[in-house]
Amino acid sequence: MTLAEIYKDLRSDILKLEKEIETEVGAEHCILRAASTHILKAGGKRIRPVFVLLSAKYGQYNLEEIKKVAVPLELIHMASLVHDDVIDNADVRRGKKTIKSKWDNRVAMYTGDYIFAKATEIATFSSYPEIHPILAHAMREMCIGEVEQLRDQFITEQTLRQYLRRIKRKTALLISVSCELGAVVSESDESTQYALKWYGYYAGMAFQITDDILDFVGTEKELGKPAGSDLIQGNITYPALYAMQKNPEFHSKVQRYMENPGSYPLNVKESVNIIRQSGAVEASKALADQYVNKAVKMLKGIDESPEQSSLSKIASYIGSRNF
Ligand code: IPE
Ligand code: IPE
Ligand code: MG
Ligand code: MG
Ligand code: MG
Repeated sequence: MTLAEIYKDLRSDILKLEKEIETEVGAEHCILRAASTHILKAGGKRIRPVFVLLSAKYGQYNLEEIKKVAVPLELIHMASLVHDDVIDNADVRRGKKTIKSKWDNRVAMYTGDYIFAKATEIATFSSYPEIHPILAHAMREMCIGEVEQLRDQFITEQTLRQYLRRIKRKTALLISVSCELGAVVSESDESTQYALKWYGYYAGMAFQITDDILDFVGTEKELGKPAGSDLIQGNITYPALYAMQKNPEFHSKVQRYMENPGSYPLNVKESVNIIRQSGAVEASKALADQYVNKAVKMLKGIDESPEQSSLSKIASYIGSRNF
């Protein structure tokens, strides 16, 4: 099942959201407008709005209300990518130059801030005030996740728990909130809101684990962003943790590099090969699959519907995606 097939039934609503985002980032200022439009037009899967739309189908589906959360959620995601590329010093995103590379870090910081501000502004038009603390909490946790990653950067002695806590904050929560808010604005009952929120959390964990696997096995063409950069940047993800545990020689090599990157350069190709041979990809996929299964299980508690099967399909797409 491809993403396009899953999106098929939502096409016209996604296009409406897309138009709305385009209008909203058509900022008053020419540089902010150019930079925001640049990242928007570069593409992206728009998976967070899709989660909002599908979750909203469990209740009273009202696109006008859905827009006021789905647009902010995609904008929050976009803003975090603009900032993430500054932090990760990344030059390519969605197959195009990043804002920090096409303009510079300063423009990227303000563009990210501007997009964040737009997101909160649009949310104020919602008829559901309970969305605000939920959105604010997710934004706050994302910052903590990214800062935790900075703290853990270049440190080889990390536990799986630390990794999971980090990805929960930086990625899973926003996807969880996308599902939860779809249910809130369509006035689903509490048990449905609860199930969708947890569905989104588990799907989001699988999503980031897969992103981390793809960094070692994907190609730049598939991903629209360079592969193999996490380890070089000192970001130790689960596949690397696993390979280090299985291969002491690789562990020492990585540790030497992390302690002194300038003096002990790491060969990306060689490291990727070692990681692949260590069984790390399979182990990481198994971990992602555990989360996919938990996500799908959460759907069992809520009413059968065609939308439910779309959420299951997205969960399994996440476990097997290659972009
Ligand atoms: C990239 O997110 C950052 C992560 C949380 C892994 P996406 O893979 O959803 O990025 P786009 O929006 O499709 O470019
Ligand atoms: C996810 O982390 C970024 C955010 C949640 C902001 P990554 O650094 O892995 O994202 P990519 O790989 O650059 O898209
Ligand atoms: Mg990052
Ligand atoms: Mg990054
Ligand atoms: Mg990544």
